[in-house]
Amino acid sequence: MFYILLVPGLVVLAYVFRQVVVIGRSCKSNTKLHGKTVIVTGSNTGIGKTTAIELAKRGARVILACRSKQRGEAALQDVKRESGSNQVVFMQLDLASLKSVRSFAENFLKTEPRLDILINNAGLYMMGRTEDGFGMMFGVNHLGHFLLTNLLLDRLKECGPSRVVNVSSTAHNWGRVDFDCLNTHRTLRKGTSMLDSFGIYGDSKLCNVLFTHELAKRLKGTKVTCYSLHPGGIKTELQRNADATVQMILSNLGKFFFKTPLQGSQTTLHCALQEGIEHLSGRYFSNCTARSVYAKARDDAASKKLWEISERFCGI
Ligand SMILES: NC(=O)c1ccc[n+]([C@@H]2O[C@H](COP(=O)([O-])OP(=O)(O)OC[C@H]3O[C@@H](n4cnc5c(N)ncnc54)[C@H](OP(=O)(O)O)[C@@H]3O)[C@@H](O)[C@H]2O)c1
Repeated sequence: MFYILLVPGLVVLAYVFRQVVVIGRSCKSNTKLHGKTVIVTGSNTGIGKTTAIELAKRGARVILACRSKQRGEAALQDVKRESGSNQVVFMQLDLASLKSVRSFAENFLKTEPRLDILINNAGLYMMGRTEDGFGMMFGVNHLGHFLLTNLLLDRLKECGPSRVVNVSSTAHNWGRVDFDCLNTHRTLRKGTSMLDSFGIYGDSKLCNVLFTHELAKRLKGTKVTCYSLHPGGIKTELQRNADATVQMILSNLGKFFFKTPLQGSQTTLHCALQEGIEHLSGRYFSNCTARSVYAKARDDAASKKLWEISERFCGI
């Protein structure tokens, strides 16, 4: 009898675990976005693409800010088709090039009168250097978005209430910011092993949380608010540059433990749309809920220092 009940019991437990722990909550906001403009970086695939579709369905004019013309234009057709909206535009943005960030911002500010929501979603897990000589994950995951946000801040202020949403990760928990290494080597850690790359990804995601913490302070008294978030573990292309072993482990674990991109976009949508969270500006969210973070992720001195070194690196 015990064994007859064991199998269905385990199946039910697994189902409940997947629904509650893996999939989690959905964005409950009914906010419509007609007349509003949103930028989503890295929106040709993964969470960014689904986020763009969901925002276009709500009536927003959505700018797909992607590095590849070919992938960006293919995504443009998909987003238009799946959202049923024609208010979707592709604009080229390579976050690994500060020149490209500047030219994107210039083009955007010249051609688009509004900016209501900026979603800094793009990210990668890849070693190497950016065009400007910064560590790739520091350069793309943090510095490119730092410059982009600063160049667009006046437009966000003019259009307030407006929001900046920074897609971070729970990986920020194992991150640290080594300012000496940044100063000397323009990267977050010097090593090149698999463990180092894991560490650097976490460091870059800690930068996202610290950037949001400092940005919220600097935005006090304006109508712009900002949030960082962990989207969950999602089946996307993020691990495409990882070691073959890591790819194999993740793709097997992913079958049960990862969300779909639509499920993975829910916390981003919550931070972008949910009414009444303005008093939580600067906070970190996961599963559509504001969370406590370790002291290192709300460290006033470190977030100010990161802001200042980032300004210096970007020449602003
Ligand atoms: N998937 C997860 O489990 C997970 C968990 C926690 C946090 N996140 C975060 O979620 C965000 C979205 O990741 P994802 O999982 O959707 O990954 P993804 O499928 O790999 O999508 C990443 C997007 O970022 C773009 N990107 C990469 N480098 C860029 C650059 N230099 N300039 C402009 N865009 C660039 C990619 O463009 P290309 O296609 O041209 O490379 C792609 O559109 C990232 O910030 C990631 O760190 C993901």
